[in-house]
Amino acid sequence: MSWRDFWNADTPIYVNERHKTLHYGLIARDIVALIPSRDAKVLDYGCGEALSAARVAGACGQLYLCDGAPLVRERLQARFRGDPKVVVLSPEESDRIADGSLDLIVVNSLLQYLSVEEFGELLTLWRGKLKSTGQLVLADVIPPDTRALDDAAALLSFAWKGGFLVAALKGLVRTAVSDYRKLRAELGLTHYSQSEMVEILRGRGFEAERRPANLGHNPKRMTFVARPLGAD
Ligand SMILES: C[S@@+](CC[C@H](N)C(=O)[O-])C[C@H]1O[C@@H](n2cnc3c(N)ncnc32)[C@H](O)[C@@H]1O
Repeated sequence: MSWRDFWNADTPIYVNERHKTLHYGLIARDIVALIPSRDAKVLDYGCGEALSAARVAGACGQLYLCDGAPLVRERLQARFRGDPKVVVLSPEESDRIADGSLDLIVVNSLLQYLSVEEFGELLTLWRGKLKSTGQLVLADVIPPDTRALDDAAALLSFAWKGGFLVAALKGLVRTAVSDYRKLRAELGLTHYSQSEMVEILRGRGFEAERRPANLGHNPKRMTFVARPLGAD
């Protein structure tokens, strides 16, 4: 099984519906805060189920939702059919977005599932689609010294505040014997240090800096804001 197969099914990552709803609500709130104007064109790349995408669409002019998993896209298509503000795309279809047209690209919790080469290729795609004044936000990037225990602690803290602590404890036990744990052990997750990220981004034509706070619930992971080099 690959990470791609893993994401094309209901995953054990969310311990229950409340967890999933709160997670996507938090991500949508954080994306909305990054939108520069009401008419902005926004791409959420590796968007997952994007349960609160309607809120993001309500705060911008056009929202592109791109995900690699056909099952995820089918569900998004069903939810947003007939909504002219939301366009659902596969990675292959993302080239349909006009060059130099996007104000904001958000990539949350994706880089760990990609090889360094895949990440590099996507940076070239994103660089081409962004306006010269646009921003690429790469979030939930895992630093090298992170352990599974750190992720568990962040989940329990989120669960405590969100009122699903018991479900989270049970979920952690389920995850420990799930395909996710096996894949994490077999394939691993791609980690980046802060300086590696800045260097990789510079090599692909971006000026980047780490944002003080990560998007979402996990404070140990990192968010980077990147702007096309040479922009005013
Ligand atoms: C951990 S989930 C993150 C979902 C969402 N961004 C969030 O913050 O909850 C990773 C998502 O990336 C998608 N994905 C994995 N590889 C991809 C790729 N190469 N291109 C686009 N999407 C990909 C998966 O299908 C999955 O939905």
